[in-house]
Amino acid sequence: MKKTVLAFSRVTPEMIERLQQDFEVIAPNPKLGDINAQFNEALPHAHGLIGVGRKLGREQLQGAGKLEVVSSVSVGYDNYDVSYFNERGIMLTNTPDVLTESTADLAFALLMSSARRVAELDAWTKAGQWKASVGAPLFGCDVHGKTLGIVGMGNIGAAVARRGRLGFNMPVLYSGNSRKPALEQELGAQFRSLDELLAEADFVCLVVPLSDKTRHMISTRELGLMKSSAILINISRGPVVDEPALIEALQTQRIRGAGLDVYEQEPLAESPLFQLSNAVTLPHIGSATNETREAMANRALDNLRSALLGERPQDLVNPQVWKG
Ligand code: DGY
Repeated sequence: MKKTVLAFSRVTPEMIERLQQDFEVIAPNPKLGDINAQFNEALPHAHGLIGVGRKLGREQLQGAGKLEVVSSVSVGYDNYDVSYFNERGIMLTNTPDVLTESTADLAFALLMSSARRVAELDAWTKAGQWKASVGAPLFGCDVHGKTLGIVGMGNIGAAVARRGRLGFNMPVLYSGNSRKPALEQELGAQFRSLDELLAEADFVCLVVPLSDKTRHMISTRELGLMKSSAILINISRGPVVDEPALIEALQTQRIRGAGLDVYEQEPLAESPLFQLSNAVTLPHIGSATNETREAMANRALDNLRSALLGERPQDLVNPQVWKG
């Protein structure tokens, strides 16, 4: 008998067709009523879940007695209670690598937009404000040659660093759990403590995963260490930054600006950030290109398929539960 897959989000009709070759597929559909009710009804039958954007842990998975694997269509897996998965022997997979370059592109889009006031001046032009040559009050700051600080030098951090070093001649500083000799060699990147990096960098780019250790790692004290001319970029997870503290730092111009793709609460429906011309606010689109989302979907699908057909999935987050 075929195993059952509950495809709960970010799943295209093509993916469902591919899944149907090996599995029974249940895909909650907003046109058929409440999505959560459909999800909960399907859960006891599911051997595998695929999707993103749902908190899954003890409370949500009580009824999922047959569950063998959760395949997340994301690289970050802070939505999942991994120790509960381990307790239950449930595999968790993610989609690393395939979104590295797109996410680094977006970090740079935020960085450029914040420094050169791209989004702000686009709105200003369209509002018919361009009556004379733009003067100093609307000038931005240079990017090339400025110091780029990467907080969390994983694959995405390294891809951002390469753009800065090779494309914009930026000296690169980085902080994190370990030294990266190969990147130091390749990019001349220099290791710093977080405090040192905050004090020296012109652009501070956050690329750490969310964990108990990184939650609110940037708050009033850390913002106070930054140069008043510096710009903070966050493409990691919203709760890495204490958002009210950041809003205050932007309102008082303690720092020059921020480019944000992620927030403490998402979707961000209302926020003092919307009143701030020195904040660029994007709706969590780090990986949102057609090519990358397709690659992520395929990778997640391959992981799910392997796990349910008894092969070790390529991107197993918790190898300790692998029984193969
Ligand atoms: C990821 O893959 O973790 C991105 O942030 C999209 O959720």
